[in-house]
Amino acid sequence: MGALTTDLCRRLNIEHPVFGFAHDITTVAAITNAGGIGVYGATRRFPHEISAELDQIRSLVGDRPFGVDLVLPDGMPEHNSREAIEAHIPDEHRAFVDGLVSKYDVPEPSGPGMRTRFIRSKEIEHEQLEAVMASDVDLFACGIGAPRPAVERAQERGKVTAALIGSPRHVERSVRSGVDIIVAQGAEAGAHTGTIGTFTLVPQIVDACGDIPVLAAGGVATGRHVAAALAMGAQGVWTGTIWLTTTEHAGHMQPALVDKLLAATSADTVITRSESGKTFRQIRSAWSDEWSADNAPEPLRMPYQDVLVGDLLGAIIEHGVEPLLHSGAGQGIGYADRIRPVGEVMAGLITEAESAVGSLGTNR
Ligand SMILES: Cc1cc2nc3c(=O)[nH]c(=O)nc-3n(C[C@H](O)[C@H](O)[C@H](O)COP(=O)(O)O)c2cc1C
Repeated sequence: MGALTTDLCRRLNIEHPVFGFAHDITTVAAITNAGGIGVYGATRRFPHEISAELDQIRSLVGDRPFGVDLVLPDGMPEHNSREAIEAHIPDEHRAFVDGLVSKYDVPEPSGPGMRTRFIRSKEIEHEQLEAVMASDVDLFACGIGAPRPAVERAQERGKVTAALIGSPRHVERSVRSGVDIIVAQGAEAGAHTGTIGTFTLVPQIVDACGDIPVLAAGGVATGRHVAAALAMGAQGVWTGTIWLTTTEHAGHMQPALVDKLLAATSADTVITRSESGKTFRQIRSAWSDEWSADNAPEPLRMPYQDVLVGDLLGAIIEHGVEPLLHSGAGQGIGYADRIRPVGEVMAGLITEAESAVGSLGTNR
């Protein structure tokens, strides 16, 4: 056991206190195989895909632990009915989106986009949860909202549970849900995010959580961040952005998007509701600029915005429409300057964190 080993590492039987979120199964498996714990973002996957993909990850990692993440927000519709949502989309919003299609000459997508394959709804959530419960995944994380019945069922099946939160206001609810781990995600983070910075947030959440272990998320991109997270009382880090530019992940992306990610500095991300209806940090592009222009309508709420823009977002990725191409990414993207294998990124984090812990107090 090394200088960075925490109680949580011992409990989960992992070498490094590094949780790595990705939407890509090879990346997730590689994070676990590098001694951390990979977590598969499955919220946009059909239940039968979740079952198959969790099996695939298991076959890649053997007995080592890995996790799955679902986003289960309150207030979603009962049924997976696109028509029911379409009926409430205002003409002004449709006209704006049609205008983007013509202005940037976006070709038709070959099928629905990632956000329109199905409607985020109670019906789909229920089936996704069934798939997770029936699997042998070790960790079940909830991205937005952790319903107590789901947490309890997962725990009965021997899974460790986690909830991501972005404000001390959410601690009480997460504690009531009974989760085993709380992820304190600061505003620097990629994708759905809040307003409080990681440095401000983590100690407050650690203090409010008592015995429940906390992970620090948002902007963790170097070993010095890992050391700082442990110094703030976290038992590890939860990361997303650093894996986007790994060999494993980038191999599944549009090359032009990978180039944008590598070129981006920490000042090149913005928060917009135009992606999903909730505040979402992404690489700045013509997409975010258009939605923040004076003539743009206010984005709709989730899941209406998903339906409004889902097919167009899919077409942008499918056809590599350069000005509009973007991805969720946190401010830590400024540290990514080349494609590296997951194992190398993990080794770099750990070596630097150990050295940072060792040198604490020596530069006074
Ligand atoms: C492209 C991308 C997509 C994400 N999607 C999800 C998601 O579906 N569910 C979730 O709980 N977190 C999601 N996250 C957030 C991560 O779980 C994690 O909290 C975050 O990336 C940590 O901050 P960092 O990006 O600065 O490393 C996503 C992050 C990125 C970069």
